[in-house]
Amino acid sequence: MTHLVIADVGLVYRRASDDSELVALDGVNLGAERGEFVALVGPSGCGKSSLLLLINGLLRPTSGQVLLDGRPVRSPGADRALVFQEFALLPWRNVLHNVELGLELSGRPVRERREIARRNIRLVGLTRFERYFPHQLSGGMRQRVGIARALAVEPAVLLMDEPFGALDAQTRQLMAAELLAIWERDRKTILFVTHDIDEAIYLADRVAVMSARPGRVIDAVQIGLPRPRDFDVRNSARFAGYRHRIWQRLEEEVRASLAEELGEASGDRD
Ligand SMILES: Nc1ncnc2c1ncn2[C@@H]1O[C@H](COP(=O)(O)OP(=O)(O)O)[C@@H](O)[C@H]1O
Ligand SMILES: [Mg+2]
Repeated sequence: MTHLVIADVGLVYRRASDDSELVALDGVNLGAERGEFVALVGPSGCGKSSLLLLINGLLRPTSGQVLLDGRPVRSPGADRALVFQEFALLPWRNVLHNVELGLELSGRPVRERREIARRNIRLVGLTRFERYFPHQLSGGMRQRVGIARALAVEPAVLLMDEPFGALDAQTRQLMAAELLAIWERDRKTILFVTHDIDEAIYLADRVAVMSARPGRVIDAVQIGLPRPRDFDVRNSARFAGYRHRIWQRLEEEVRASLAEELGEASGDRD
């Protein structure tokens, strides 16, 4: 059985201000096998974040279903963890206590959660910093704390929404390599949203391309690059081939999405 199934999912938002409707997603189909790394690319506003919220269970689809091991997702659960760009660390808690948060919420005893937290802090290389507070850490370190916290609850599925979006280019590349190393070790199912095509190819087993809004999956490119992958893989001819194909699929959608944005903007002036 496919681990995670997004079956014909549609999502309509209702704007409270004028009661108008916005079709964010329409007929999204996507699956992920257990332990698979799937990257999701698509023009901004096509519903990538919404899709992750649906899988997380914070939102319910208007039509279709999200199934995890054959069971419909109805609410957030410890089997799924969300990591996003803004880290969402609690500023008054040190690294250790931030990583313990999810375990605390699920009522794990102190000794147990401390041990699990420390293991995951080690995994992201922050052992020396476990007593530091978020404001004492760099952006890359804060993002590591966010990842450690998500891993600590031992989710089956890790949902990552542009997790490296706020980092500088070098840190971003380093974090991508580290994420791969972590994933090679414990093989969680990962759904990783990024606007960076190279990052998607470098990381993923499969890159799903979404259309302009309403978002659908219009292509899913199997990435056959051998693992473990190192940074140089980005210079290979095969990598360039994937980049070309994905960009070709994406370009038209990005144009459509821009055209609509411009249309909306000029509409506002009328
Ligand atoms: N709570 C909401 N209410 C109304 N519209 C929303 C809401 N959240 C997102 N949207 C709209 O839904 C569309 C998809 O948003 P989002 O999932 O954030 O896209 P992406 O992550 O791909 O940029 C966008 O047009 C956005 O403005
Ligand atoms: Mg988004």
